[in-house]
Amino acid sequence: MRLDTIVKGGTVVTPGGTFVGDVGITGEKITALGAALDTAGAKIVDAAGHYVIPGVLDVHVHLELPFCGTVSADDYRTGTRAGARGGVTTVIDFAIPYAGDSLNDAADNWMKKAEGKSLIDYTFHICITRWNEHKDQIEGMVERGFTTFKEFMIYESEGWQSDDRALYGTLEKMKEYGTMLLVHAESARVLDELIARHHTPELMKKYGARLHPMTRPNFVEAEAIQRAVQWCEATGGKLYIVHMSTGEGADIIRAAQARGVPVVAETCAQYLVLDDSVFEREDGHLFACCPQLKKPKDVERLWEGLQGGEVSVISTDTCTFTREQKAMWEGDWTKIPMGMPGLETLLPLTYTRGVLGGRLSIEEMCMKLSTNPARIMGLAPTKGSIAIGSDADLAIIHPTHTHSIDPASMETNADWSPYEGWELAGFSRTTLSRGEVIVDNYRVVGAEGRGRWLAREPWGNRADRDQETGNGERGTASSKQRAAPVASSPFPAPFGVA
Ligand code: URP
Ligand code: ZN
Ligand code: ZN
Repeated sequence: MRLDTIVKGGTVVTPGGTFVGDVGITGEKITALGAALDTAGAKIVDAAGHYVIPGVLDVHVHLELPFCGTVSADDYRTGTRAGARGGVTTVIDFAIPYAGDSLNDAADNWMKKAEGKSLIDYTFHICITRWNEHKDQIEGMVERGFTTFKEFMIYESEGWQSDDRALYGTLEKMKEYGTMLLVHAESARVLDELIARHHTPELMKKYGARLHPMTRPNFVEAEAIQRAVQWCEATGGKLYIVHMSTGEGADIIRAAQARGVPVVAETCAQYLVLDDSVFEREDGHLFACCPQLKKPKDVERLWEGLQGGEVSVISTDTCTFTREQKAMWEGDWTKIPMGMPGLETLLPLTYTRGVLGGRLSIEEMCMKLSTNPARIMGLAPTKGSIAIGSDADLAIIHPTHTHSIDPASMETNADWSPYEGWELAGFSRTTLSRGEVIVDNYRVVGAEGRGRWLAREPWGNRADRDQETGNGERGTASSKQRAAPVASSPFPAPFGVA
């Protein structure tokens, strides 16, 4: 086998174990793994003294999103450059219909945002914001290669909110099509009530941005997760809880998984390394995000959830706003654009606080950042692991070499960082995307627009699902002709897998 590139002499983390040796690449694929591959004619990327890990999948980002009266400040150019510097080789964004738009329109709009700009590979979760109109468009989106959908239990003012009828109905359809629903779980009516009670000039003067965490107690998330899990259990449709921030959420997911409910959960790096004490800072408003940062005990419980298996994925929920955008709040916490930059620091934070902090092994980290996200989102085996036949998406990181977080030297469009001044190891010295070096010596060298949209297939084939659901001949002709499954199991082993 001709090898174009050999990543040589690194500590290579694979699903089958970690070894010191070489990764051989032909074209865009990994074609050889070994202790000492034949280097004749191959380009050599020296990885001695470094970890070679699978490229990270950040499966929760919002690039160029109109939100909170402004537009998130990282687009596909800056966002994916930032990601590549942090070892991210695939992003999944959320295509959210603008007023009156169909699901197809939403996908088209997001394709236009990414095309010609994205440095790395990408796809989208399709957001269902108006159930009555969108419910009959879901199957068409599956045919088009989108297999993950999203509903928000809040954000009425954005026109995004779904009620229980929509959640229940969508989960039924997820079961039918072999697809998955992602849910932002917060209890809308109670949250509205708590915000209304605190929205007085006196309290805003007294507490300022601290009202953000004060009006989002843990039960706001816990009740909504519990309810979404209930609809998941009733329908058998696959459910993925996004950006879980509470210990209570982790308890609910653990109990549901023990009953065999097809639910998995993601948390985000910020919920693992920050807590709501940041709101005591003078610039605390910068940290406003949704859901809000919680207490140190939640931070601890989420790390435990990663170790125990009830938290399957770490992502970022990147939704960047500059200082100027954040300043729009003018003393009213409900007007702070919610979200933070994250793509560039996901791997460094997880590596530094997780692996160097003694909370995760390097293999467990790769499971949460690459292998599980790829499996759960229907991108395995192409993405997510170092294995023969997989895309040659790799990050090469030094075990101890640190960088100080300084927004001025970063790729993100943010002019601030939640982690400013932190010393973090785990930045990618070299990132390869489909065999091409796109980050070299910690600097982005890849061309914008080289990233590709990734089509996905539902789990199982129609006959498998019909057997499981007893649906007999209900499938459409086109779905019956669909190619064989990417993965044979509905939820390929994310539970309990490290
Ligand atoms: O605060 C955040 N992360 N905003 C983005 C929208 C969301 O709910 O994910
Ligand atoms: Zn959300
Ligand atoms: Zn989000």
